Amino acid sequence: MAGYKEIMVPMDGSDNAMRALDKAVELAQFHGSKLVLVHVVDAQNLFSYSYAALPKASERILKAMEDRQGAEVQGNEVQGAIREVARQHGEDMLSAIEDSLPKNIDVETIYAVGSPKRYLVDLAEKRGTDLIVMGSSGLGAVMGFILGSVSSHVIAHVKCPVLVIK
Ligand SMILES: Nc1ncnc2c1ncn2[C@@H]1O[C@H](COP(=O)(O)OP(=O)(O)OP(=O)(O)O)[C@@H](O)[C@H]1O
Ligand SMILES: [Mg+2]
Repeated sequence: MAGYKEIMVPMDGSDNAMRALDKAVELAQFHGSKLVLVHVVDAQNLFSYSYAALPKASERILKAMEDRQGAEVQGNEVQGAIREVARQHGEDMLSAIEDSLPKNIDVETIYAVGSPKRYLVDLAEKRGTDLIVMGSSGLGAVMGFILGSVSSHVIAHVKCPVLVIK
């Protein structure tokens, strides 16, 4: 029977991506597919991506300043703190989601740092993904925009079908 062996679900922590995941779970149960959850930390755009992680990152930076009695904190340390907190945030998100899924579904989680657009397209190509289920928009959603830049890039560049959840 022609079904979907592997369904990729790109996750950015948005409600839209969670709705896409619900649909992907339904499809996976129907077709007996494996789910591949992918989260990519946008390495070029760490600040805008990781606003959810910023409060924690500033805690770390303040702590570092206290430890050094107010000595200056370098820009690369700030970047490093944000990257580290963003990494932890992404890993925690994927593992919490994985734990919440029905146990009869085969799930793989992939966590990466890079360009989300390029990484998702390359991964789908490399793995021969049968279907991608993703949100129309994500964390950066702006009212009035139908498709975010990650979803439009993925739709334009992958060979497999893409199911876009609004
Ligand atoms: N960093 C990411 N890692 C994995 N999946 C992502 C990532 N960013 C977006 N996605 C996927 O793409 C979908 C659409 O998000 P997208 O980023 O295109 O829209 P947006 O955040 O509203 O707009 P933009 O990012 O262009 O400002 C999300 O619902 C999610 O499925
Ligand atoms: Mg986005």
